[in-house]
Amino acid sequence: MPSPLGNAIAETAANEASAWLVIRAEALALAEREPVLRPLLQSQVLDAQNNAAIIARVLAGRLSVAEVDTSGLIDLLEGALTLDILASVEADLLAVRERDPACTTTLHALMNLKGFHALQIHRVAHALWLDGRVEIASWLSNLASLVFGPDIHPAARIGAGIMLDHGSGIVIGETAVIEDEVSILQNVTLGGTGKQSGDRHPKIRRGVMIGAGAKILGNIEIGAYSKVAAGSVVVKAVPAHCTVAGVPATVVRIHPASEIPAETMDQNI
Ligand SMILES: CC(C)(COP(=O)(O)OP(=O)(O)OC[C@H]1O[C@@H](n2cnc3c(N)ncnc32)[C@H](O)[C@@H]1OP(=O)(O)O)[C@@H](O)C(=O)NCCC(=O)NCCS
Repeated sequence: MPSPLGNAIAETAANEASAWLVIRAEALALAEREPVLRPLLQSQVLDAQNNAAIIARVLAGRLSVAEVDTSGLIDLLEGALTLDILASVEADLLAVRERDPACTTTLHALMNLKGFHALQIHRVAHALWLDGRVEIASWLSNLASLVFGPDIHPAARIGAGIMLDHGSGIVIGETAVIEDEVSILQNVTLGGTGKQSGDRHPKIRRGVMIGAGAKILGNIEIGAYSKVAAGSVVVKAVPAHCTVAGVPATVVRIHPASEIPAETMDQNI
């Protein structure tokens, strides 16, 4: 039976507070409804001293296949989670909650969505990479790829409010850039053509949606608020505010100027 108290707390928190308060309230309510999950929720969410501790415990728990001490892993993750990174984590939680119709609570995004988990490990690995700790960053990225699916180079630059839907089969190359509010579905490749070296991966501008299985190859720009149709192979730059489709991809629709793509773009297909 749902707990009226837990639900009331969750509802109040959802109306007025950050994703982290919502998550704590949802975890409290879920722990009452599903006793088998209570120890897990207690140790990973309810007993955590702060927001960084929540995300570090959730991620370390899922990476426990690593042959390293889990508490050392928690310390590594928590130590890298700056306030800036935590703000991005929160924006990602909200993005998934808003755009994925199968995601009915913020807690669900935190506990069950491997695309979300992979992205957060990337945020930590990227911070370690920038800090010159490239071996541990690469080790962490590889572990996340084995456990969650997406293969993201630790040097790739990724903004906030990102949804990696499903996560499986996503590959993001070393010099790729992804701006804020982008959605990427399963089996998307942001790769090189094999003909360029150095800065050789795509630049994805704000608010873009990339459909399942799309391959975007080379140091090309996908303009803001455009859509890449499922299964496309994109080898040339895409202007802002349009849809491209096909192999090789061509523009199939130009979005009207009156459209506010970030609000009207249906990313929940
Ligand atoms: C591209 C997409 C977002 C639709 O965007 P849109 O701007 O609304 O485009 P439209 O539906 O108006 O289609 C424009 C044209 O492109 C074609 N088109 C759309 N998607 C296409 C695709 N994946 N491959 C080839 N052509 C496609 C349409 O048939 C249409 O052609 P027409 O003008 O000859 O009739 C959608 O088709 C898509 O691919 N979504 C990704 C879905 C996905 O990844 N789902 C996985 C869920 S797990």
